[in-house]
Amino acid sequence: MTDLIATACSILRQNDRGGYTVPTARLYPFQWNWDSAFVAMGFATFDAPRAWSEIRLLLRGQWDDGLIPHIVFHAPSDDYFPGPDVWHTRHRVPTSGIPQPPVLASAARFLVDHAPDPALADAEMAAIYPALLRNHLWWHSARDPHGTGLVATLHPWETGMDNSPAWDSAMARVPTDTSTVIRRRDTTHIAPEMRPRAEDYQRFIHLVDHYSAAGWDPARMFASAPFKVADIGTNAILLRAERDLLALAERFGTAAERHAMTTRIARQTAAIAAQWSEDHGIFLPRDLLTDTPIDAATSAGFLPLWAGCVTQAQSARLGATLDLWASQVQRLVPSFNPADPRFEPQRYWRGPVWHVVNWMIAEGFQTAGDMAHASRIRADTLANVTGSGFDEYFDPRNGAGLGGRDFSWTAAILLLQSLQVAGGS
Ligand code: GLC
Repeated sequence: MTDLIATACSILRQNDRGGYTVPTARLYPFQWNWDSAFVAMGFATFDAPRAWSEIRLLLRGQWDDGLIPHIVFHAPSDDYFPGPDVWHTRHRVPTSGIPQPPVLASAARFLVDHAPDPALADAEMAAIYPALLRNHLWWHSARDPHGTGLVATLHPWETGMDNSPAWDSAMARVPTDTSTVIRRRDTTHIAPEMRPRAEDYQRFIHLVDHYSAAGWDPARMFASAPFKVADIGTNAILLRAERDLLALAERFGTAAERHAMTTRIARQTAAIAAQWSEDHGIFLPRDLLTDTPIDAATSAGFLPLWAGCVTQAQSARLGATLDLWASQVQRLVPSFNPADPRFEPQRYWRGPVWHVVNWMIAEGFQTAGDMAHASRIRADTLANVTGSGFDEYFDPRNGAGLGGRDFSWTAAILLLQSLQVAGGS
């Protein structure tokens, strides 16, 4: 374990580009939103000031309306497509125009709770609290303007689970024509059979062109979106983040803010509860354009455990669903139901295991009092790294590492798990 911890620390240092971290060298040469939230927690285990810097630099990309974009292009690079010239956004530091799962407030709370120097943590937290609050308000006004309790996702990249089979049917309705010349760089770094297909890419870029033509105006985007789903992962992560922000607001916010958060939390909790599927034994995403549940059991369907909003009966049933998956693969948690014909163990978000998702699910089972499933997931996570290294993601059939190497968030999760081994949480 000591060697693994040292390697994980050195990967985070290697991927440091001066106060922020790239997910991995070359393949992803900028700062990514939810990657950085996990990376900040990873740094917090050995270098608290550097952890706060990760968050501060991400917030340099925050828009005036509250959006924290999914990529901040701090420095130019030719290694990635689509770069700033495709997004056509108008921020001081170039950014994309869409969000990613809002883990940030949960990460900030983690930094405060694990602070070796509470005075530093209090000063940093007080400085960023208003930005986190503005971001949560953005989610509700931009993505749930009618107050349903579920926020909408307008591009699969916003879910962080870019190519999940959950988006297939909704994406099939998105046109493939684009006005942008597609110059993919990912397939020159990584074997094409692991990456999204050409047609998917045209649809991804069609959506970028569409929102860019809408001037990145939240109301116009929401009203005209050719793709609009309620991702169960994003919604669960936002609910957890709201609860963490509420805890922070006890010290850094006002009574009025806490009151508004409590109201939102109740609405979100009820809306997520309605996404439970007794047939699948898991929570499902919803297609908001057809107003129907999406028939796809993904690892995101376990994340309401992370949000702490499941009943005892649901938690037991989620454990049974996981057991069923475990009987078909060697390593948990596959990103997609292995019994489904659409399962592909090596292709992006269509089957492989991601350690950030494992970590949230394991924490969730633990909170629900199910230590057996939490421990099994953590053991598999550790076995993947021990057997293969700090890869981007892993084959659930055998734990073989896939995608980019020396990945920041895989290193961060190892560091977070090492706290559990040491008896912390
Ligand atoms: C891919 C993943 C996304 C991640 C990014 C950087 O796009 O799908 O979740 O944030 O890579 O690691």
